[in-house]
Amino acid sequence: MTDMIIIGAGPGGYKAALHAAQHGLKVTIFEEGHVGGTCLNVGCIPTKTYVHSASFAEAVERQPQVVEQLRSGIETLLSHPNITLVRERASFVDAHTVETPSGQRYSADNIIIATGSSTKLLNISPSLTPPVGGRTPVPLETSQAETRPSPPRGEREEGLVVDSTGLLALKELPRRLCIIGAGVIGMEFASVFNRFGSEVTVVEFLKECLPAIDSDIAKRLRKLMEKQGIKFYMGAGVKSLSPAAAPDSPDTVPDGLPSGSLSVTFEQKGKELSVEADVVLIATGRKPNTEGLNLEALGITLERNGAIPVNDNYEVKAHPLPLPKGGESQEGVSIASRGNESPSLGEGLGVGLHSLYAIGDVNGRQMLAHAAEYQGLHVVNHILGIEDHIRFDVMPAAIFTTPEAACVGPSEDQLKEAAVPFECHKAFFRANGKALAMGETEGMVKLCCEPDEGRLLSCHAYGAHAADLVQEATAFITLGATLQQLRETVHIHPTLSEVLIEVN
Ligand code: NAI
Repeated sequence: MTDMIIIGAGPGGYKAALHAAQHGLKVTIFEEGHVGGTCLNVGCIPTKTYVHSASFAEAVERQPQVVEQLRSGIETLLSHPNITLVRERASFVDAHTVETPSGQRYSADNIIIATGSSTKLLNISPSLTPPVGGRTPVPLETSQAETRPSPPRGEREEGLVVDSTGLLALKELPRRLCIIGAGVIGMEFASVFNRFGSEVTVVEFLKECLPAIDSDIAKRLRKLMEKQGIKFYMGAGVKSLSPAAAPDSPDTVPDGLPSGSLSVTFEQKGKELSVEADVVLIATGRKPNTEGLNLEALGITLERNGAIPVNDNYEVKAHPLPLPKGGESQEGVSIASRGNESPSLGEGLGVGLHSLYAIGDVNGRQMLAHAAEYQGLHVVNHILGIEDHIRFDVMPAAIFTTPEAACVGPSEDQLKEAAVPFECHKAFFRANGKALAMGETEGMVKLCCEPDEGRLLSCHAYGAHAADLVQEATAFITLGATLQQLRETVHIHPTLSEVLIEVN
């Protein structure tokens, strides 16, 4: 029996393990893949390496080095004497016990599920594998793309359908890349692959990109990316994906590229249109990883989006299991008899399993690496009885396009919809000395606050280093400061930060 079991060593899991271990808890952490999770291995870190590489070839070379260095750093951290890393998949036996495929069982007072998320496939699967013209189906490739050999010179093969993992595994730059979904993943990859020289087309169901960000800012960023050469089809729902009927002539295809053509068919304003591409990236959202955890054994009913339901302390909500004959609870889990009704749970939502937690993407609250980290810290504090004041309602996020976009707090549209009294203040990068000096004149900041330059509510921005500007605003919002207090805070001149005090 150990104090804590953590399933998943991504940013949520490994940071929680360290925090717990540093406070004297004995932790066993399970990881079936590489430590660091999606963020380090196939997410934030590889994509930022791409953003900061001059060419695709440089990105492909640097990516494994950067990832490996960080991975070994995490492994060193996890060699803490209070932590045992088990490199196996864990699944539940009961609310205090997990089992690995090798048959080993482990028990703990508390268990944290931190299994992350994976690509949500498009609901067009019949067309994803169509027998068009007798050609072979088009499978979705993820990490397997790494092992896919390049076609011999002049020979054609089917185009690739990939998720972000598969795209990051490509060794050759696609000539034509079609991205389905203009969310965070779609926009980041559109930006970087366009810069590397691919012909990029984005097909998005909604009228505007980046649903989480202020629509005015999202539109400005999209228009800028259009000027950079990316083709956007907005308000366009993808209907099917198939091998293109008439592929290009083989000799127009450079050696070694994934050279097959795919046709992406979509409907826009009642018209059916299609785009051809060599590689299609599916970026239509992610779904929580719960398969194989055997959550049924704990009486947990997943939410509609597949997330594990949690309360505000990230304790898992479960329905009492039916008692077997004789009145004994199943699997030794006395969920019903614990009587741990959480005060934050609504009627009929079930009971909180006070020793079982779910953090990060798997609870579907905020699919961000830093959200997972802070949720993990909070859970460990909760277990240890340490009071913290982490403001989960003030969650900044950034999109690493060129230039960046970032936000914290509700957008102007959301505030209007909620009928919150507020005022909106804007400033543009082109009026900022440092931005002009840097040649980074594209950008804008929008600050929303309570009336009369009152308490700051949100900050949405795009432009060079927008993430850093939003981080500064996050500090003020977290501390409940007003716009007046932000203006009265001395800002170094000349800096991009001055944009925040230049708002009208
Ligand atoms: P997303 O939910 O941000 O965007 C998906 C987009 O696909 C939506 O705009 C949706 O309207 C569109 N879409 C869905 N079905 C479609 C169809 N049939 N045809 C056309 N468009 C369609 O999801 P995304 O970008 O895959 O990201 C997943 C999660 O990962 C997000 O929660 C995101 O916050 C997180 N993430 C965060 C990053 C960051 O913080 N920098 C980086 C990468 C991912």
